[in-house]
Amino acid sequence: MELSQIKHKYLQIKLTLQLHIVTMITKLEASISMNIEGEGIVSRKYTSISMAVIRRLPKYYRYLGELIDKDIYRISSRELSTITNFSASQIRQDLNCFGGFGQQGYGYNVEELRDEIGKILGLGVNYNAVIIGAGNLGQAIANYPHFVKRGMNIVALFDTNPKLIGMKIRELKIYDVENLTEYAKENEVKIGIICAPENVAQNIANSLCAADIKGIWNFAPVDIQIPKEVKLENVHLGESLLTLLYLLNENEKK
Ligand code: NAI
Repeated sequence: MELSQIKHKYLQIKLTLQLHIVTMITKLEASISMNIEGEGIVSRKYTSISMAVIRRLPKYYRYLGELIDKDIYRISSRELSTITNFSASQIRQDLNCFGGFGQQGYGYNVEELRDEIGKILGLGVNYNAVIIGAGNLGQAIANYPHFVKRGMNIVALFDTNPKLIGMKIRELKIYDVENLTEYAKENEVKIGIICAPENVAQNIANSLCAADIKGIWNFAPVDIQIPKEVKLENVHLGESLLTLLYLLNENEKK
């Protein structure tokens, strides 16, 4: 595989991870400070917002941030449509859920819109998180310092391997998983990130739920059962990769 292809894949995976964490935080915020009514409909000071709209918000948030970085402070729904690949009418419809920020003939105030979407996503709030499974993936996630900007503050890792217990990844200590529930209760941990083998994932989820965790970011390739009030986001990089490979194959056929 060429270096450019590897770089492209790395970027895809990084973006997928960032999108997943914002979605996870969104779900948490929805469960903690908003009222979830019925099947994924959120109501707040705004009109009802469907989960489909909420899933698009992280993308709007990211693109609006990129516009600010380029010193662009005003944008029309048509221009936003070109960047996001959502139709202009979809964008207007989505943003109208929050009272609409656009003005006819002016477009959207990029900073205002991004701030408001940030508030809806609950990005002002930071949730303590722990990683369970301090192997390749757990350490890679622990080594990524920017999740805190997205509202997740990783405070510790847990493992069963005596060689890893006591070690540190950046400033984060690896503890014995036996202490997970107690630690999570004492340190107000709200998110558990499962990076352990699939055969232990359910047990880990049970320990997390016993510690009154609010959300699980599950990387183990297995369906875990948890109480309805705990929010679950599964991440499958393999699926994202398959999509990329499909697109590459389609391209080759042309
Ligand atoms: P790894 O073998 O490097 O790390 C797993 C770690 O979990 C080890 O340090 C092991 O000691 C620890 N562990 C085992 N039982 C445990 C328990 N009961 N409690 C706490 N820790 C325990 O494996 P790797 O590559 O980091 O993968 C970890 C998990 O993530 C696997 O389930 C793998 O299938 C999954 N994975 C998922 C991806 C995705 O896209 N969703 C991508 C890569 C891995």
